[in-house]
Order: sequence, then C-alpha cells, then structure tokens
Amino acid sequence: MSVYLGIDIGTSGTKTLAINRRGKILARATVTYPCSAPKPAWSEQDPEDWWKATVKTVRAVVKKARLKAADVKAIGLSGQMHGSVFLDKNDEVVRPAILWNDQRTVAECEEIERKAGGRAKLIKMVANPALTGFTAPKILWLRNHEPRNFDKTRRVLLPKDDIRRRLTGEYATEVSDASGMLLLDVVKRRWSTKLLSKLQIDRELLAECYESEDVTGSLTSRAAKLLGLSTDCVVVGGAGDCAAGAVGNGIVSKGILSTSIGTSGVMFVHSDKVKIDPLGRIHTFCHAVRGKWHMMGVNLSAGGSLQWFRNAVCQEIVAKAKRAKIDPYEIMTEEAAAAPVGSQGLFFLPYLSGERTPHADPDARGCFIGLSLAHGRGEMIRAIIEGVTYSMRDSLEIIEDLKVPVQQIRASGGGSRSKFWRQVQADVFGKKVVTINTDEGAAYGVALLAAVGAGAYKNIEEACRATIRVVRQTPPSRKAKSYYDRAFPVYQGLYASLKDDFKEIAKLER
Ligand code: XUL
Repeated sequence: MSVYLGIDIGTSGTKTLAINRRGKILARATVTYPCSAPKPAWSEQDPEDWWKATVKTVRAVVKKARLKAADVKAIGLSGQMHGSVFLDKNDEVVRPAILWNDQRTVAECEEIERKAGGRAKLIKMVANPALTGFTAPKILWLRNHEPRNFDKTRRVLLPKDDIRRRLTGEYATEVSDASGMLLLDVVKRRWSTKLLSKLQIDRELLAECYESEDVTGSLTSRAAKLLGLSTDCVVVGGAGDCAAGAVGNGIVSKGILSTSIGTSGVMFVHSDKVKIDPLGRIHTFCHAVRGKWHMMGVNLSAGGSLQWFRNAVCQEIVAKAKRAKIDPYEIMTEEAAAAPVGSQGLFFLPYLSGERTPHADPDARGCFIGLSLAHGRGEMIRAIIEGVTYSMRDSLEIIEDLKVPVQQIRASGGGSRSKFWRQVQADVFGKKVVTINTDEGAAYGVALLAAVGAGAYKNIEEACRATIRVVRQTPPSRKAKSYYDRAFPVYQGLYASLKDDFKEIAKLER
C-alpha cells in the first residue's frame, strides 16, 4: 500500500492526515496547543509544542489507519506562515517563536523600507511591502531588541521548516512559505541577495529553498523510530498554509479563486504570470505549483471575529449548544439568518487585531457602527458575518482591478461550512460560490504534494484533477446582491473616516 501524510502546523493545533493513492482519507488526528501574548500585540508559541503535536498526530494516524512503516512513502508539510523560529548553534530555540499575527515590528517595517531605498524599490525586490506579520521585520526586531539572542542565532526557520529539520535533519524551505519572509525574490524564486545585503542579514541564517513538490530529505532513523515510519519515507517541500489550502481546494489553474475562513480570512487566486500590486495592498507570492504564482489578500480576524463575539457575548448560546450537543455557531448563524440583509443598517469593521489587506494598519480596531434600539444579538452576529465578507470583497476588487481573471469562487474553511455564510459570500461578492468534495484544507493539499513528490502523479495539477471535484453551488440572490452593492462603498468609507482616530486610540494605550 502507498500512503502519503499531510501535516499542518496551525496556530491553534497540528492536524495530520493520511491519504491513499486516489486521495481517499484513511485517518486524521489533531492536537491543539496554546498561543501566548506576553505583551499587547505580541503573539508567540513554543516550537516544542508543534513537535510534540506532530509526533502525537502522526502516531495516532498510523495507528488508526493500521499502517505499516513501509506503507508511508512521503510526507508533505504545511504550516502557519511568517513565524520565526530562532535557533542557536546546537539547534536549540533562543526564544519563543514570533507568529504571523504579532504586531510588534512597526518600527522594523519602516527600517526595512528605508534601507531598501523606499517602498517602491522594496516591492521591486521582493514583490511585497514590509508588513508587521512577515518574517524579515522579526529578524530585525530581534537584532534591535534582544541583541544577545540575535548574536546566538545561527538559523531562522519557518514553523513547518523547523518540523522538517526535526524529521530529516535538513535546513530546507520552499518557495510559497519563503515568499512570506520578505527575503525572497518572488519573480526569480530565489533568495534576494540584494535585499539581504541592504538589511545586513546573513544568507547563512536561511534554509535552502526548493519548489513545493521537490523532495527535501528523508526521515532520520531517530524520527522514523519515534513516528513508527521508515527511513525510506521522503519529506517534500510542502507549502505555507495558504498555498497548501489552495492546493487542497484545487486552486492550481487560472480563473479559480478560493475563499478560506478560519481565524484569518484568505482570498487566494492562482496566476500563471507574476503580477504585482504596485501599491502593495495584496500579496504576490510563489505558488506551490511549479513555476506559478498566486495573489492573496489576508484579513486577520475573519472567523476570529465571530469567535471573539461567541466568547465575549454569547455565553448563553454556548450553554444552550452544550445541552443540545451542537456547535454554538449553528445557533449563532440561525439568529443571524433571521435578521434582514444588511442587519438593519448595522456595520461591523472586523479589525480586531489590526488589519492586513487592504489597509496594512496594525492600529485599526474592530467596531460596530450604526447601532440603534432596533438591533439585537441576531443583527450583531449578521453584521459581523457581513463585515468579514466585505473585508474579503476588498481583496477581490483589487485582484480584479489587476486583471487577474476570476471565473469561479471556491469557499472553504470553517466559515464556509455554514450554508448561511456561503450565501452571504455569494451575495456580497455577487458571484456564484461553489464547494468541493473535501474540506480538509492545508493538510490535504500537502498530502497531495507528497504524493506528487513520491511519483504517484506527474504534477500537482494532475493530482488535483484526479481527486477534487465541485459538489455544491450557491448562486447570489439578485435582491441581496443589489443591497450589498450599495452598502459596500459605505463599509469602505468607514475605515477611511476612522483611520486617524484609530491612531489616536493606539497612542492612548501605548
Ligand atoms: C498568511 C497568514 C495567515 C497564516 C495563518 O499570510 O498570515 O493566513 O498563515 O496560519
């Protein structure tokens, strides 16, 4: 039997799944871990937790699917992007990893732009502007704020690549995740020696960069023994969780865009040619498809906004759901569906952790605007769902302005499991939204890349064609679409009106 594993090192937990040659899922397992915020706007994790979760989930999957060591031919790795694992000469971490949603590096982003000779020159070198979540500003932050830790650092790895090091002993990464470090020449798909030298970052700190389906090593005997696998099992490049999720959604050819609503919200479109937003509002990264690119907009609090509301306000719903043994989100979306389109003029700005696309503003904050005595909990939940979907439409409009064709929208992630939220997406985007036969996300995408790396398919396009198909379609309602078309510019105007106030609020809290 030939089996391929996909391992996704997420922010809330690690998920591992096993597929056979036809893409059928044989077993899956998830282990969660905490995230810490030692200071406001900081977000950190202990890489040891990722490793423990990897070992536990792989062993669980091997057991559940009754796999023999020799069955597992290849592993694909995916993970939260941009996080920095700083390692010393003995491969010990010098401090906790700084994550993608950490906002501490505002000054370092300015330093990068200055040293690069300005924003336009930076975008020319690495296709993207400096954003607080990216990795390069974190390296500068370590140098500026923890010089002793910086001096000890010999390697900086992304989360999934630290797991690869523990599995294979290799320091390797691949183009999709490396793009989010802000140190990759995204057009040429190799490290930007130019930017590295301007920032005085030693190339030796970085891993070897591969294409996503390339084999980067095989299991060490220690790792093989620990996991119950064979040293013949290879580990392919894999992909950052956005590109991996897109592969798992079959976004490997032009014209298809995926929306993914987890903690963050991601609009992801494949592009055969490299296209760069000169204003840097949307990311251009290498795709996990060899020689192709993708563009992507990221909203930092998508499902995260609803989760915040559930935890902060909906205790009664949580208790009711517990008694009924259902998911609290089911009750929340039922209440939202009972409220009218547009939530009776109530708007929600979902900038609870600042925002990335399109505003790149760490000081932006969430708000309800337009509250009246008429509004109840249902309107508030609906306004959150609409606000998050408007924030994703912001990305869609930029992508379409750059003439990247979008013929089909594929919805995925927790938010898209809800029929109600799928309808809101179709209505706000004004386009048909489809879903596919699997909703396993990034872990599935990298399991497919592993199958390609092990030779089961010619390339990732062939693997996706063989395993992924559209199963459900949600067309937009004309009436709701027309309301949202009128409401969207109002939503856009709210940030423009409030952005200076957000800065003042941030100053009060510093
Ligand atoms: C992508 C991003 C997030 C993380 C979440 O740029 O920052 O989607 O990868 O896991």
